[in-house]
Amino acid sequence: FSNFLTDRFDRQHTYLRISITERCNLRCTYCMPAEGIDLTPSHKLLSTEEIIRIAQLFVSQGVNKIRLTGGEPTVRKDIVELIGELGKLKPQGLQTIAMTSNGIALKRKLPKLVENGLNLLNISLDTLDPYKFELISRRKGLERVLETIDQGISLGLRPLKINCVVIRGVNDQEVLDFIELTRNKAIDMRFIEYMPFDGNKWNEKKFISYRELLDNIKTRYNDVRKLSDDMHNTSKAYYIPGFTGQFGFITSMSDHFCGTCNRLRITADGNLKVCLFGNAEVSLRDLLRENVPVQQLLDIIGAAVKNKKKQHAAKNSSLYNKVVSNTTSSFIRSKS
Ligand code: GTP
Ligand code: 5AD
Ligand code: SF4
Repeated sequence: FSNFLTDRFDRQHTYLRISITERCNLRCTYCMPAEGIDLTPSHKLLSTEEIIRIAQLFVSQGVNKIRLTGGEPTVRKDIVELIGELGKLKPQGLQTIAMTSNGIALKRKLPKLVENGLNLLNISLDTLDPYKFELISRRKGLERVLETIDQGISLGLRPLKINCVVIRGVNDQEVLDFIELTRNKAIDMRFIEYMPFDGNKWNEKKFISYRELLDNIKTRYNDVRKLSDDMHNTSKAYYIPGFTGQFGFITSMSDHFCGTCNRLRITADGNLKVCLFGNAEVSLRDLLRENVPVQQLLDIIGAAVKNKKKQHAAKNSSLYNKVVSNTTSSFIRSKS
């Protein structure tokens, strides 16, 4: 495995998350202000060709999974072609092409995306109630998201994961309804601990730890069993015997999973980030535009990876307050 992508703690980074746009067709309250965020001018964003060059470079160094994120990846007009180009990297070692989407504008494109190489789909959905959907995302569209989930399952995108950010007083009463979704559908339902970043109005009172949610689920279902977790999985997985799907918790706050982190990130404007909770390390966009030779690019990437910290500051650590106050708009741009 490439030395360039191995850090001081022997973590091998085989998973690259590329944000392909900052724009989004929703305005989830925990993510964005109602008016949206200031967008980076388009000439500063990566072109499709640059995204492919970066993907190719990382695949040549051992990356075997690429996830497209955003903003909302489907607002990028050339998403179908982009996935087609990534698909061409499969013979070179790319095994999995994944995407995280809100499912609002995906339905029409999904069959083509799968045909072009999309293997995995995570859909963000925080409520099953149309009224609340509008309250949380400041837009309509629950019906479409639900249809897209069924369509994804039929197209073989299994297990299709649903991401639900749980916020006390907002959607915590719906956890059991979400569990019911897994009774007959091949869904991996993931409840995500609400994370703070600048401007998203996070506070302790809105935060619910996974333990509280799990206790609540166990009061309804008396046979809840633990599944074994893949070492790189963000989620702690459980199942209820007889149910088609499963569920889990992404415990970024109460129990971080930094020790087994295998992820690197590229922001929409081409910065490499070695940790979600961190600032941009280096502009690959500028290096590409300056035609820096590949070897030098790898040295620079390698140096950033070697600088990766052991862990981010989790909720209970003394570093925690520092992270909360240090999160900048660059975090808003890449919180996934
Ligand atoms: P898989 O590839 O299916 O494992 O996806 P994922 O769960 O990593 O990605 P997804 O885009 O669905 O993100 C789900 C949640 O996990 C989001 O709330 C992310 O912010 C969070 N998350 C993703 N990667 C990381 C990470 O490296 N560190 C932390 N702390 N949280 C992360
Ligand atoms: N805390 C936890 N998860 C978040 N996401 C966005 N903002 C936050 C936050 N503050 C989730 C989205 C999506 C995933 C990519 O990140 O709901 O599912
Ligand atoms: Fe858009 Fe995702 Fe942010 Fe919601 S959480 S506004 S769907 S980027």
